[in-house]
Amino acid sequence: MNPTQTAAWATLNAHKKNLAALSLEQLRQADGSRSERYKICACHIELDYARHHITDETLVLFEQLLNEQGWRAWQKKMFSGEPINTSENRSVLHVALRDSYKGADSHISQEVAQTQARFFAFAEAVRHGEIKGHSEQIITDVVNLGIGGSDLGPRLICQALADMSAQPRVHFVANIDPIELSRTLNSLDPERTLFILSSKSFSTMETQVNAQAAHAWLCAHYRVEPDDAIGLAIKQTHFCATSNNVQAASAWGIPTERCYTLPEWVGGRFSLWSAIGLSIAIALGIEQFKQLLAGAHEMDEHFLSTPFTNNMPAMLAMLGVWYGNFHGTQVHGVISYAERLRYFADYLQQLEMESNGKSIDKQGELIDYPTAPVLFGGLGTVTQHSFFQLLHQGRVRVPLDIISVEPDTTPAYTDDTRTQDLLLFAQAQSDALAYGINALPETLRVEWQSKPTYSHFPANQPNSRIHLSTFNAHTLGALIALYEHKTFLQGVIWNINSFDQWGVELGKVMFGAMKKQSA
Ligand code: F6P
Repeated sequence: MNPTQTAAWATLNAHKKNLAALSLEQLRQADGSRSERYKICACHIELDYARHHITDETLVLFEQLLNEQGWRAWQKKMFSGEPINTSENRSVLHVALRDSYKGADSHISQEVAQTQARFFAFAEAVRHGEIKGHSEQIITDVVNLGIGGSDLGPRLICQALADMSAQPRVHFVANIDPIELSRTLNSLDPERTLFILSSKSFSTMETQVNAQAAHAWLCAHYRVEPDDAIGLAIKQTHFCATSNNVQAASAWGIPTERCYTLPEWVGGRFSLWSAIGLSIAIALGIEQFKQLLAGAHEMDEHFLSTPFTNNMPAMLAMLGVWYGNFHGTQVHGVISYAERLRYFADYLQQLEMESNGKSIDKQGELIDYPTAPVLFGGLGTVTQHSFFQLLHQGRVRVPLDIISVEPDTTPAYTDDTRTQDLLLFAQAQSDALAYGINALPETLRVEWQSKPTYSHFPANQPNSRIHLSTFNAHTLGALIALYEHKTFLQGVIWNINSFDQWGVELGKVMFGAMKKQSA
């Protein structure tokens, strides 16, 4: 249904007007227990949503809107494999990759088990030095050639969890700019390098041209022509593929037994749990990969079984709708106070903006209400020295997710106060952005109240505090699944198909036409 025609929508509009005059500080003063009530704990993640322009009444209306849009029915459709990706007539079953499929088709779980067993076995073979190059050298470096969903998820997880000193090392190259591939290959030994040609369609131009360049690099080293017999043999020993298009991979020169498949019903931006995650399995081993899946599974079950007020994905989804559709905000920031989440905002940009950056609804009608906001982000404390000035004293309302992780307990960090300070900064900035100088201790507050106008802090920036009580493959899997389900639910509210991406086609066609003209 068009959400603006629901009863809840009109009520939320009126409710927003009632709340508009109240600041976050006034809400905090008026309700001392909200910081205790407005918390959700699940999957070793804690969501503290007290610093938002909401009251208990708002939450009732959030749930009413979810119910009017049939969120529970849509959950069932997705998890049971109904073709909810209507423009491509496909199921959306990334949840099946982590054993959360609720449908009756036994082939789904069989296909997952079979494809997983294959790429797990290959990953272990690479890790144990059983996969050799053309000159029988053991593989020490693996380069994932992929872009979008065939890069961002694996890159995020490998950067977060891989031991950079261990072999095989895993590298990522996505962009068509030759600098990225050459800078990566410059330090590698061709005879010990394996390439993963990671492309669900096996037709994405950037990945294809990078694969050709990588093959040329190998052939130059072996002093053979790319198209002669040895050149082709090198494709069989120094490449493998992760794709849905086995035929195209085979035509390129990758033997079928080295093509690890993902099914049509796994969308690119939801595919890290599939064979597209081969680089993860190679970098971390399959036990950690299984932990990643287990964390996502735990979040799936939480999402399916928990009532709204304790449902973490649902709460994040509705808070985003609240600001985008009732407060007129058009941006959303994700600040991670953790180096291990360096690529999290990049990953979320594709997940959320490629899913919900749309203006046509499920009935093919033009949409006249806001859908996905512009998502940006970065790391704390680094961003405190770049765009936090705008967040504190600018003229833009910026709802934020401020993410932190429990300080690292490995011996190398236990006496290092920096991890504690990192966590404290996350908390300090959350309060400062929400409450301004009111959050200061009394003496400091008085001092700051007397400062000149350039020290004016409008505050009132709403933010969610998301804290991982431990950081490992399990909690990272749960965190990613949390945002997958937030994204899915926002699409349900906005009445859009979150699982196609026709918007990426025009630029590609325009490029092709220009390239043809310039030939
Ligand atoms: O950006 C368009 C897109 O199709 C993404 O949805 C996808 O993740 C990316 O390109 C790469 O596609 P493929 O894995 O088929 O190469």
